Amino acid sequence: MVSELLLSRPHPQDTPQAIRYTYTDTLSLATQVNMLVSWAVVVAAATAAGAASPWPPPPLKLKNANSAGAGRSLPDFNVFQDMFMALSDMQDAYFERWVGTWPKGIDWTRAVMSTHVAATLRTISHELERRQPNEGAGCATRKHEVIAGYFADVIAYYFAEDAFAIRNQAYDDMLWVVLGWLESIQFVDEHNRVLSRMAARGLGDRPRAETWYGSRWIPAFAHRARIFWELAAKGWDTTLCGGGMLWNPRLMPYKNAITNELFMAASISMYLHFPGDPNTSPFSSDFAANQSHWNADWRPHDPVFGKAAQEAHRWLTTSNMTNAQGLYADGFHISGHGSGSNNTRCDERDEMVYTYNQGVILSGLLGLSQATGREHYLREGHALIKNVIRATGYDLARNVPVDDLRPGNERLPPWRGLGRAGILEDACDVSGTCSQDAQTFKGIWMHHFATFCSPTALQQIHPHTKLDDTAKAAIRARHASACRRYIPWLRRNARAAMGTRDARGLFGMWWTAGLLQFANSEELEFGENALPPSSEGDDVVDYRNLGVPQTAVWVRMVDLPPSLVSPPGDETGSRQKPMGDGRLVSAKGNRNRSATDHDHYHDRVGKRGLGLEEDEAGGISTWDPNLRGRGRTVETQGGGLAVLRALWVVSRHEL
Ligand SMILES: *[C@@H]1O[C@H](CO)[C@@H](O)[C@H](O)[C@H]1NC(C)=O
Ligand SMILES: *[C@@H]1O[C@H](CO)[C@@H](O)[C@H](O)[C@H]1NC(C)=O
Ligand SMILES: *[C@@H]1O[C@H](CO)[C@@H](O)[C@H](O)[C@H]1NC(C)=O
Ligand SMILES: *[C@@H]1O[C@H](CO)[C@@H](O)[C@H](O)[C@H]1NC(C)=O
Repeated sequence: MVSELLLSRPHPQDTPQAIRYTYTDTLSLATQVNMLVSWAVVVAAATAAGAASPWPPPPLKLKNANSAGAGRSLPDFNVFQDMFMALSDMQDAYFERWVGTWPKGIDWTRAVMSTHVAATLRTISHELERRQPNEGAGCATRKHEVIAGYFADVIAYYFAEDAFAIRNQAYDDMLWVVLGWLESIQFVDEHNRVLSRMAARGLGDRPRAETWYGSRWIPAFAHRARIFWELAAKGWDTTLCGGGMLWNPRLMPYKNAITNELFMAASISMYLHFPGDPNTSPFSSDFAANQSHWNADWRPHDPVFGKAAQEAHRWLTTSNMTNAQGLYADGFHISGHGSGSNNTRCDERDEMVYTYNQGVILSGLLGLSQATGREHYLREGHALIKNVIRATGYDLARNVPVDDLRPGNERLPPWRGLGRAGILEDACDVSGTCSQDAQTFKGIWMHHFATFCSPTALQQIHPHTKLDDTAKAAIRARHASACRRYIPWLRRNARAAMGTRDARGLFGMWWTAGLLQFANSEELEFGENALPPSSEGDDVVDYRNLGVPQTAVWVRMVDLPPSLVSPPGDETGSRQKPMGDGRLVSAKGNRNRSATDHDHYHDRVGKRGLGLEEDEAGGISTWDPNLRGRGRTVETQGGGLAVLRALWVVSRHEL
């Protein structure tokens, strides 16, 4: 199938911003890393747009982009600074402090954004110790302020999070909340450790005994994580498929990869990082004490969590959920369920492949290996990562993409299962049709990949494991050497994502577009098999982008209006967004396509819908495929932040 679309992007020389973000491959990352982390630069960059900063921005070391071929001559690719910019742009452009949230997010995507912020703060905190020789005390103070400032956003979001709404959503929605607050707890814990190490070395600005104020928030975060873990745990069901989490209590039974991976990751993270929770709210402690199922005083390292994670892992690996490429398909229905059959087997698989389904499991596997000292969990994670990288069309053995994007060659390489040309994509990326859910997916993959491959990931292996120090060191060394091999691929993806930044520094959804270098109005032709397989087949249902089909497979018969019990085909109301933002499928819900979707579509169609940027006079000035569909959003910004953080974190293995 060859179809033609007009897809192009401004040439790097068109705007100064584009030049600033041009990337270089020529300098080894290790060299760049040694050159950098001038936090003064970071702080200046963060505050340049706002109030007057005591830190004037340093001159940018720009060479003329024309001098040695566009995109190859600028040694200014500074991962840490770019990551920091992605964070500060995210909070400046999308976070509203007066309401304490990202207003255009939806409940679950906000939980993920807050996770990205906390994870980035943790990464930044590590760099506090890497003090520059010429750095004055004032600069150190500002670094602390930067961290405290974004941590304030996390606290604000704690109160803005609509915990009551999320209680009535799907089980996966609840588990994003758990992961988010556990991430914040880990940030606070690690920040405290960094500060006390600095104090011990005489680098701190405070007496050694004083604990950072962020610690006071740990009980609150722990409480929310515990509440939502308990709510979600009710989704574990043993009557069908021999176990596994149900996705959504209001739909036909569907046991999908994401809910089970989340339950595994959240449970093992609770086991490792949850500090206990004596807060019995929403029940009085008397009531709680009298409920046998209710553990009134949750303690750290409760074996309940560890067992839940192991059980979820056991179920997932025996569920036959991976496809011929070794990637997780989306999930299983139970054929005949609800129509008198006694079948209880998970036998109707949705073959749709999403990036995030290959991601969340990674931090679960890391946690299980930390908790047990068993290396096979890590091997399972590496096997999956390799399958993902292969499915982006990248040859890890030779460290080159299988097909490349060559400027001047307008053919878009084939879809390889989860991307093309060595760049991670979701199936909706190329057509610009990603839903708000899908816009969050690649960032989620990168977040969990970074967790898995962080050089500090295996610092703590549970003391009860029987391994001696030599054995632990060997596991760490093998893990590090496996992670190191992903860096060139990761760098390529970060470079692509950076290329999608617009003049305000905001990241787009379709990263591959960031590597396409076409002059205005040139045509990009889709090569053979460039489009992902159609999602209209019976066994490939892209419900995250197209909405849950209103068919008996997905929706309970009693909930189907008579007009839809016969095979659907009718456009109005045949699909429903699965979750979030008040449009969750509910028993008696409004099945009309939501007004906001409709308006959104009409906003976008027309010039912007095709990726055309209008100039002030209403003429067409540039081409940008990332303006199509929902365009740039807080979710796509979270993706850009996550890929840069992943590159920064994983490239520590190179030092
Ligand atoms: C809890 O149990 C104790 C003793 O069994 C009883 O005295 C008390 O009233 C109970 N509290 C509640 C709230 O049910
Ligand atoms: C695993 O799933 C695939 C796809 O649904 C199916 O063809 C195959 O028969 C299943 N294998 C087992 C052992 O159930
Ligand atoms: C399920 O139903 C079939 C007939 O529809 C029957 O032959 C079979 O014995 C039943 N299995 C169980 C476990 O009840
Ligand atoms: C769906 O939309 C139609 C037309 O706007 C309206 O008459 C109908 O009541 C709506 N249905 C529901 C369930 O809200």
